Amino acid sequence: MTVLTKPEVIDTIDELRSRLCLKRQNIASTGAEARVVLVPTMGALHDGHRALVRRAVALGEIVVVSIFVNPLQFGVNEDLDTYPRTLDADVTALAEEGATFVFAPTAREMYPDGASSTRVTAGAIGGLYEGAARPGHFDGMLTVVNKLFNIVEPDLAVFGQKDAQQVFLVERMIADLNLRVSLEVVPTVRETSGLALSSRNHNLDEPARAAARSLSAGLAAAASAALKGVPAAIVAAHAVIGAQTLVKLDYLVVVHPHTYLPVADDYRGPARMLVAAVVGSTRLIDNISLDIP
Ligand code: PAF
Repeated sequence: MTVLTKPEVIDTIDELRSRLCLKRQNIASTGAEARVVLVPTMGALHDGHRALVRRAVALGEIVVVSIFVNPLQFGVNEDLDTYPRTLDADVTALAEEGATFVFAPTAREMYPDGASSTRVTAGAIGGLYEGAARPGHFDGMLTVVNKLFNIVEPDLAVFGQKDAQQVFLVERMIADLNLRVSLEVVPTVRETSGLALSSRNHNLDEPARAAARSLSAGLAAAASAALKGVPAAIVAAHAVIGAQTLVKLDYLVVVHPHTYLPVADDYRGPARMLVAAVVGSTRLIDNISLDIP
């Protein structure tokens, strides 16, 4: 029988820094590399998160998974209070995946002066798509990610492609602020139906779950139709998603992968289609890479 080593669960910044320092020194003293890999999460871990942690374990010797439901990235009418918090189950899952440390701070530990403190701003792209629907969301996200980078000082950080705009903005922040961390992006994990895994999927009842599958199906239809150009890809996705009455589409857009601005109808080259919708009462996002010849 394999005995799993539970990761150490740490809730203060000072403790995490000193445990990390010791761990790095211990490994380095054996002559081995001691790369620190951070996986930032908000907990309620599912197989998508587990794939991020598995990648982190493959890339480094010390894996820190942060679990923090960051109040700064939730708007006033959003689900901060009801966001699922499942720390015990998360720690068990992380033991199975081989994480070294779980950093699970309180809001007071992360923001001792409250929300009125310094922010990182996401710029113009941070106000589009998810940022238009959730004003301030990306400033809050970048602020906490920057804090986590400063606290953990990772060599690498692992993010999921499911949150494509988030990945783009974190990449921009790393470049713009000359941060010393490399980004590893892991493909979206999907149910066999195609539905992208999300902590919010548990809010979907069966009819909403069935309707939600149209997002990934619409994206797949767009990827096939992309051979005929951008407008054809958009029409194909609309045809699939629009057929579902439970799906209230927020945006469906084809963006340039380097700028995240919408591409022109006659654009040719690599692109990404982003979609967001409220399904039942749950907001879901998804995306797919398109190749427009
Ligand atoms: O993707 C998430 O879960 C969050 O936005 C993140 C990166 C953990 C920051 O709070």
